[in-house]
Amino acid sequence: MTGTGHASMRIDTPAGSILTDPWVNPAYFASWFPFPDNSQLDWETLGDVDYLYVSHLHRDHFDAEHLKRFISKKATVLLPEYPTSELRDELEALGFTKFLATRSDQVHELDGGLKIMIQALTSPTDGPIGDSALWVEYDGVRLLNQNDARPTDLSIFAELGHVHAHMLQFSGAIWYPMVYELPQAARTAFGKQKRDRQFDRTWRYIDDLKASHVFPIAGPPCFLDDELWQFNDIHGDEGNIFPDQQVFMEEYAKVGGSNGVVLLPGTVSEVTTEGCTTVHPVPDVAEFFARKEEHLRDYQARMRPVIAAAKASWKHPEIDVLKGMKERIEPLLDESIYMAKGVGGPVRFDLTDDAGEVIESVLVDFPAKEVRRAADEKVRYRFKTGRALIEHLLHIDEVDWVNSLFLSCRFSAARIGQYNEFVYSFFKCLSEERLQYAEGWYDEHERAVEAEDITLDGWKVQRRCPHLKADLTRFGIVDGNTLTCQLHGWRFDLPSGRCLTSVGHKVRAERIEPQGA
Ligand code: FES
Repeated sequence: MTGTGHASMRIDTPAGSILTDPWVNPAYFASWFPFPDNSQLDWETLGDVDYLYVSHLHRDHFDAEHLKRFISKKATVLLPEYPTSELRDELEALGFTKFLATRSDQVHELDGGLKIMIQALTSPTDGPIGDSALWVEYDGVRLLNQNDARPTDLSIFAELGHVHAHMLQFSGAIWYPMVYELPQAARTAFGKQKRDRQFDRTWRYIDDLKASHVFPIAGPPCFLDDELWQFNDIHGDEGNIFPDQQVFMEEYAKVGGSNGVVLLPGTVSEVTTEGCTTVHPVPDVAEFFARKEEHLRDYQARMRPVIAAAKASWKHPEIDVLKGMKERIEPLLDESIYMAKGVGGPVRFDLTDDAGEVIESVLVDFPAKEVRRAADEKVRYRFKTGRALIEHLLHIDEVDWVNSLFLSCRFSAARIGQYNEFVYSFFKCLSEERLQYAEGWYDEHERAVEAEDITLDGWKVQRRCPHLKADLTRFGIVDGNTLTCQLHGWRFDLPSGRCLTSVGHKVRAERIEPQGA
């Protein structure tokens, strides 16, 4: 296994090679860059592979420019079983012609004794409607590249035999809580909670699979634009959600983990049933991370022209933003039942000029199913971002504003009340195909009866988490009257069943009377 940066690696076996998620060019409005820098690798050689696996369409996993230029079009694409054909369509447009359309959770035997299995996750909150994990076996050696996918549990992989290498995400990959307009102390407290939760989830997955070796991958990214520099975890901020691989190793050691291996770009790890030998491209990994800021400053200097060129391409002042948003969003509002109801109120976009002054406000009024100029009115959800970014999204006809604007972190947000997942689900579904799929998914899940109950610390609770169906026998923790599902950290008030983290999502719970009471 050769580390090729972020979630990317090249897996070489005598029966063929697989390259996963190669990402080099900045993503999300030039906000995210791979860390450490992987642009100097010999991509001509690395890209000459037998198989390509792109786990999902998030831009830090699907780098169109890089795929087009460096990855052999003779490679067979190992395709997850997604409900829409977007991933295949995009890869075909780049020149890939050979596809193995896998079935989710089924082992596929390739030539020469290589076996693979891809689990596709397909809820509207999984990636850009889809995220996946890849399991590989050759000659009794098994790897699970879990990537940033969040399966409810890993038993399906564990049942295929002991796993020798488990690669998984441990760091943050979201805009929360940094973009929220909150007092600094609250932002730090929420960030710290999130950072702890990320690690807790990682320990749980690691414990679930009990692989011989654990590789922290799929993040963190780094932020090289001066405007976003503060998001790098180099300022001693305990509320920073982007801890790096070295921090992972230190935290993992604190919970007794001793089988972690850092995969830098260029690290080669030879994994066998007996063990794992690793050679790094630097003499001392800890020393490399100790000099992280220096690495980032050099990297930033190299990338300044790239960022400047990207910024220059976003502006299209001639675009009538209100009209563009109306045309794109109103027909979808009209068709949306679950998501529009789930959002339940107007969402305002305050658009700013280069100096950060608000020059235009557009309201997406979900109850009225209308996009209009915002009057001086109170709203529950508000985003403030550069007008140029929205101009660009309209210019390129972007259907997924999560996979572009929101992940860029180039906005600020304010809300009254709880987090509302429907806001983000809707803005990642700005196409007929996606909207229909998401609405259908919610319809199916709204109607599903969660019949099975379990007992947890004196409570009878439905077995499956109301969020994304995690098995609460494994992920549920009761503290007093509060149930926390550790998969995404959602909390529920048991006496009322109310979800404390997001709107809706009530849990069925009942206190069990003590014997003899
Ligand atoms: S499945 Fe997401 S918090 Fe439970």
